[in-house]
Amino acid sequence: MKTGLQKLTRHFDEELKFLKGWIDQPRAVGAMLPTSSVTARRMASVINPESGLPVLELGPGTGVITKAILERGVSPQDLYSIEYSADFVEHLEAEFPEVNIIEGDAFDLDATLGDKRDLVFDSIVSAVPLLNFPVPNRVAYVEDLLRRIPYGRPIVQISYGPKSPVPPGRGNYTVEHHDFVFRNFPPSQLWLYRRPLA
Ligand SMILES: C[S@@+](CC[C@H](N)C(=O)[O-])C[C@H]1O[C@@H](n2cnc3c(N)ncnc32)[C@H](O)[C@@H]1O
Repeated sequence: MKTGLQKLTRHFDEELKFLKGWIDQPRAVGAMLPTSSVTARRMASVINPESGLPVLELGPGTGVITKAILERGVSPQDLYSIEYSADFVEHLEAEFPEVNIIEGDAFDLDATLGDKRDLVFDSIVSAVPLLNFPVPNRVAYVEDLLRRIPYGRPIVQISYGPKSPVPPGRGNYTVEHHDFVFRNFPPSQLWLYRRPLA
């Protein structure tokens, strides 16, 4: 069992790692501090751990959301986490040795997933900083992701602006506001994207 001091040291260590990532690659990292555990839990809440399907996580960074996904009841072997930064990958592999941590680009998932490219996931949890990419790329991202989950199941995306980073009316998907989490720095907005059911 971890003591309060150990927890605090670990938390500080993660914030330092995150800040280093932000200094090295500000556009790819997007935020200056790790996602809060409250936000992470709200994102993981969309997963159905009873579906028997694996879960895809994009942009895990320091692993706050990875941890919340596992706490939701997903077994580590059923979680695929795609991270672009080699430094974060090294940290994630040490922290979550049984999770499928894959270094690669979430915008090129067929290549990144390799022989797992045809997997059907229950849902997708994305922390990739979409606002740093042009709108057509964001729309293509969501369309590609929706091909990997059953009709009606969600992609949950974190963002920091008042509007959905993927605008409605640009493709075959619905946009739903899931939550606003004040206990995050900066406060986070959570969005859901799904294929329309009928
Ligand atoms: C806002 S941070 C995620 C924060 C994370 N939830 C945490 O608390 O540590 C965005 C993450 O997405 C990753 N990322 C950015 N572009 C990516 C891409 N194209 N493919 C995969 N990961 C990407 C960054 O390296 C960074 O780890």
